[in-house]
Amino acid sequence: MKYFNPANLAIIACPGGDVFADEVIGHLRNKYRHSRSKTEEEISKRYNITQEQAALHIDLMNRIVIRGTDSHSGTDRHIQRPFKVNVKFTRFPNGEIKSEIEESIRGKDVFIFQDVENRYAVKFHGGQTVSNLSINDHLMTVMVTVDAARQAGAERITLVIPLYPYSRQHKAKGREGLTASRIGKIFENLGVDHIITLDIHSRDIMNAFDKLRLENLHASYQIIQTLLNMDGILSDDFVVVSPDTGAVDRNKFYASALKKPLALLYKERDYSKLSKDASQSNISQIRLLGSVKDKTVFMADDILGTGGTLIKGMKHLKENGAGKIICAISLPLFSGDAISHFDEAYKEGLFYRIIGTNAIYQEEVVKREWYVNVNITRLFAHVISRLHQNQSVSSLLDNAAIINRLVSKTIIPENQNELLFPERN
Ligand code: R5P
Repeated sequence: MKYFNPANLAIIACPGGDVFADEVIGHLRNKYRHSRSKTEEEISKRYNITQEQAALHIDLMNRIVIRGTDSHSGTDRHIQRPFKVNVKFTRFPNGEIKSEIEESIRGKDVFIFQDVENRYAVKFHGGQTVSNLSINDHLMTVMVTVDAARQAGAERITLVIPLYPYSRQHKAKGREGLTASRIGKIFENLGVDHIITLDIHSRDIMNAFDKLRLENLHASYQIIQTLLNMDGILSDDFVVVSPDTGAVDRNKFYASALKKPLALLYKERDYSKLSKDASQSNISQIRLLGSVKDKTVFMADDILGTGGTLIKGMKHLKENGAGKIICAISLPLFSGDAISHFDEAYKEGLFYRIIGTNAIYQEEVVKREWYVNVNITRLFAHVISRLHQNQSVSSLLDNAAIINRLVSKTIIPENQNELLFPERN
């Protein structure tokens, strides 16, 4: 009955990843607080001692030295450990960034958080606030921070980047680079051991790594839970539609999980043009395979960038007689003026709801009536805690079984034994 003491767990939040990191830290604290007090309760019952004495017993077993004049006694002492490491991030006038780790992290298991798509105001040393930093600025911050952590003697470094940068450049056509894999290789060379990310655009990216491990989490459980909470949505006339061929596996997974049919939109892009926004997208052709007439449509995609894919797709579905349309996005970037394009589309009655996770920090879109924000920080906290304790994470990565239980509780399946969840990215 050994309580696991997370004394070696250290979290660094880069400017941009702060809000996400703080939420994850909140879950971690609750988790360890809960597990500690359960262990205390068990020990106090088993040895017929008070919970205070049990707390001392745990401290002894874990060789925890309580330093200083800690006013919090008993079960709350360990919660004082905040996990978060003080780091001074300085941004120089020419845009260079410096990370200085202000306390010892020697021998620690360090998790570095960054949201490379955060376009909102982030804070640097000296009260400096900068908005609209590019993905490249955020990426550079991660790199200098990883290096600082390595130089400071971190035992293991894990990057927590819900959006894997440059993931859409995962295959080279013509004279392009293999940028997505190269980014991973740069991280690996800097000393990153693990990356935790969400619904990565393509798992092929991993093929270029030597030692680096990538844990790809899925937002599907939280998305399905949100969908099932929408009253009367999951009717008989419900169809899952893949917005393009690249998203087929993802949507096949949702269709199987919800026991609903799958249809497909086939889109072609004209790469001689650049997608500027949802109205000037380079999508040149779109076709529907399957029927959506008078049906409620659910469409899932990994990334929403300009919104061109979804808006063009939704228009096409409406022209083909679709009823209510609900889309789910794991990584809602809402680049440029995407939000206003969705405002217009909503006014025109093109869709009912867009479900998006909080993997990307958003302030504006979360205020919209048409937007449903899904919190996935608890999942990240569970994975971090398991990795920190060197425990298996496979049941958290492959969530088909828990989705199956969730859906079975909500809808009665036609044949409970025929629930097949296909492989997906
Ligand atoms: C592409 O293959 C991705 O999965 C997304 O469909 C795409 O990145 C969305 O971009 P946008 O919103 O700019 O059309």
